[in-house]
Amino acid sequence: MSKRIFSGAQPTGQLHIGNYLGALKNWVALQDAYECFYCIVNLHAITLPQEPATLKKATLDLARIYLAAGVDPERSTIFIQSDVPQHAELAWVLSCIARMGELERMTQFKDKGKGNAERAGVGLFTYPILMASDILLYQTDLVPVGQDQKQHLELSRDLAERFNRDYGETFKVPEPYIPKAGASIKSLQDAEKKMSKSDENPAGSIFLLDDADTITKKIKRAVTDSGVGVEFDETRPAINNLLIIYQLVTDKTADECVAHFEGKMYGQFKTELAEAVVEFLRPFQERVKQYDDTTLREILDRGAERARSEASRTLKDVYSRTGIN
Ligand code: TYM
Repeated sequence: MSKRIFSGAQPTGQLHIGNYLGALKNWVALQDAYECFYCIVNLHAITLPQEPATLKKATLDLARIYLAAGVDPERSTIFIQSDVPQHAELAWVLSCIARMGELERMTQFKDKGKGNAERAGVGLFTYPILMASDILLYQTDLVPVGQDQKQHLELSRDLAERFNRDYGETFKVPEPYIPKAGASIKSLQDAEKKMSKSDENPAGSIFLLDDADTITKKIKRAVTDSGVGVEFDETRPAINNLLIIYQLVTDKTADECVAHFEGKMYGQFKTELAEAVVEFLRPFQERVKQYDDTTLREILDRGAERARSEASRTLKDVYSRTGIN
């Protein structure tokens, strides 16, 4: 039996090139060797306030993005989280074995809750439990994510191990799959911060649906470091970040990138980077327009049916082991 992959993204805000290079690109590549489940996690989205009509539209738009990036519905299961009620059901069971202390240590809660736990939503606090439930329901081997999800993955592993120890072997303990290059693409305006959907300054992110002009302007205005030379150098995080983006969109090796830009100035580098990003996104942007809502619904309904059949098997086992059913 081939090994299982599970991953997902939230239908909130606009997806950016960090989401693509840190996650989606690997989802597509892993389809050849694994059985993959790719989920649109709309239940996670409401941990922060969402406008209902916008959320509904963003959910279908995210399915379009998965498909346009190359997730193949003939090989992989693509579905909406809320179409599979077992996610919320298992999350309840796991919340009964998770500990306040381990959730309090989650750095994303501290960031998104803006350090004010009194005012933060309880769903934002328990969010990593729902994520663990997503992963564990499918007996997942590997979870391709960016660096920012690593701590959540560790919690998923801890919960799986605890449940297995307390109730008997039930869950596969998942491994993270975090790419060597691209796991944390930084903001174009501040290389200390990751590129983020929730950044108030759109100049920091290259959105997947930005047109060529906008992409070029954003790259031209991207911050650089003092010093010269276009090299992979963590002490010059801004240039380092831009060069990683260049490497991933061109599929060149690190050595080829460095050789290509030897002796060139930042201006020349930015011009070539902008062209490379535009070329990389062009076919994707054309494909995004191809899927009408009816086709999408069909794909998502088929995906949900397949996901429910897998998820219900695990949940049944969990209920029987805990004495619920
Ligand atoms: P989300 O929607 O914030 O992001 C989707 C994926 O994009 C990655 N990512 C990045 N990678 C590199 N550089 C960046 N700047 C960058 N920003 C985001 C994220 O790491 C992620 O892989 N909690 C998850 C969604 C989720 C999930 C799951 C993922 C829910 N359940 C189960 C895996 C398995 C999230 O909010 O991702």
